[in-house]
Amino acid sequence: MKSYRVAVVGATGAVGNEIIKTLAQRNFPVASLKLLASERSLGKSFSFQDKSVPVEVLREDSFKDVQIGLFSAGGSLSEKFAPIAVKAGCVVVDNTSAYRMDPDVPLVVPEVNPEAIARYPKKGIIANPNCSTIQMVVALKPIYDAVGIKRVVVSTYQAVSGTGMKAIEELSRQTRALMAGEDAVVNVYPHRIAFNCLPQIDVFTENGYTKEEMKMINETKKIFNDDAIAVTATTVRVPVFYGHSESVNIETIKKITAQEVKDLLAKAPGVRVVDDPASRVYPLAIDAAGQDETFVGRIREDESIAHGINMWVVADNLRKGAALNAVQIAEILAQKYL
Ligand code: A2P
Repeated sequence: MKSYRVAVVGATGAVGNEIIKTLAQRNFPVASLKLLASERSLGKSFSFQDKSVPVEVLREDSFKDVQIGLFSAGGSLSEKFAPIAVKAGCVVVDNTSAYRMDPDVPLVVPEVNPEAIARYPKKGIIANPNCSTIQMVVALKPIYDAVGIKRVVVSTYQAVSGTGMKAIEELSRQTRALMAGEDAVVNVYPHRIAFNCLPQIDVFTENGYTKEEMKMINETKKIFNDDAIAVTATTVRVPVFYGHSESVNIETIKKITAQEVKDLLAKAPGVRVVDDPASRVYPLAIDAAGQDETFVGRIREDESIAHGINMWVVADNLRKGAALNAVQIAEILAQKYL
C-alpha cells in the first residue's frame, strides 16, 4: 500500500489537533507527518503513531517534500501558502474559506459530490466547506436525489470551538467568572457568549446577512452544482463547546413523507437517524461531540406548506465539520488520484 508525506498547517489549532487525531484513528497511510504552526508553538510536540512529532514553524520552504497539505491556519495564511505548497508539488486540502468559491477549486463533501475532486489539478487545491454547510448537505443529499429541493430555511446553533482555541477558552473563562459572581471579560466575540446567544457569526455583509450565512447559501449551491436551490440562513453562536445543531426546513419539489425521509436517511452514508420523540430521543450536541456521523432527528412534515419537511441536524463541527471531511477528501485523493 502506498503511503504519503503529509503536512498539517495550523497543527496546534482546534481543527489542526483534530486532523492529527483523525489521521491516526482512520489509519491514513502516512509516510511522514509534518506539523506546522507559528513561532509561538516552537517546542510543542504531538504524539502520532507512538512517536512524538515536533511542531515546526511554517515557512515558504516547508513544503519541499510534502505530497498532501491539510491547511487550517486561517484564510490569509492559506491565500499566501497554498500556492507556494502547490508549486512545491503538494496537493492542498484547504479548510479555510479562502478558495471555496473559486470556480477552479472543487468544494467537496465526500457523501455528496466526491466526483468534483477530479477537477483539483487546475489549481492543486480542494476546498473543505464551512462546518455548518457540511452537516446540512450530508442530510439534504438523499432528499435532493429522491424528490428535488426547491428551498431551504436553516437556523443554526453553533458551538464556540468553530471559532478556535481562543473561543473555547473564552466560554470557559466567562462561565467560571460569572458563576463566581465576577464580571465576564469579552475578547473574542462582539458580546458575552456565556449564558447568551449571538445572532452574528463573522462580519455583516451589505445585504444584512453575515458572512457565515452567505457561506451556507453559496456553498450549498456550489456543492449540489445547482443554482436553483433557494437557501436562507440565520446563524447563531451559542454557549456550547462542541457540536453544531441546525433547524432545517426544506421545501421539496415532489411530495415526500416524514417516514420516507426517515427511511432514506437511515440508509444514507455518514448519517445516523436519532428520532424517537416519544422516548425523548433526538440528536444532541453533547452526544455528537467526538463522533463522525451527522445525526438527524425531529423529522416531521411542515404542515404549513404542501411539500415541506422539518428536521434537526447535529454534528461535531471539528470532526465532520472540518477535520474528518478534510481527511475523507485526502483518502479519496490518495486512493484515486495520487
Ligand atoms: P499557533 O498555535 O502557533 O498560533 P485556532 O483556529 O484554533 O486558533 O488555530 C489557529 C492555528 O493557526 C494554530 O495552529 C496557529 O498556530 C496557526 N497559526 C496562526 N497564525 C500563524 C502564522 N502566522 N504562521 C503559522 N501558523 C499560524
